[in-house]
Amino acid sequence: MTDVLVLNGPNLGRLGSREPDVYGVLDHAGLTAAIGQWADALGLTAEVRQSDDEAELVHWLHEAVDARRDVVLNPAAFTHYSYALRDAAAQVTTSGLRLIEVHLTNPATRERFRHNSVIGGVATGTVAGFGTDSYRLALAALVEA
Ligand code: DQA
Repeated sequence: MTDVLVLNGPNLGRLGSREPDVYGVLDHAGLTAAIGQWADALGLTAEVRQSDDEAELVHWLHEAVDARRDVVLNPAAFTHYSYALRDAAAQVTTSGLRLIEVHLTNPATRERFRHNSVIGGVATGTVAGFGTDSYRLALAALVEA
């Protein structure tokens, strides 16, 4: 059974109250529950974690490599500038594991600083713009790809 680590970056713990017109009304606990149900339906196991801390996210990516777990990563604002997270994400994919970059919104349609992803170039693929369904689509990609 594919074992997936779902990692959410800074401010995603504020889902539900953070700009609900942009990010939706589901909170992080609700997102975690939905991911659990989608994973079950797809025959995956998924563990969801969230951190505002770049170093913690880097360490979790190292852990995924060592434990041989595929990753679904919403790097949030780190998407746009964290070379440390990019280098850690590259260790996932160069070790033969898959890392799907996920976004609730489509950053390409938003402010200019969101147009660049430093993660995309080392990810297996990217799903963006489908709200919480972006996570379901990313999990499905791990099953079907
Ligand atoms: C986000 C998009 C990022 O630009 C933003 O900083 C986030 C969330 C998304 O899921 O749409 O925090 O990653």
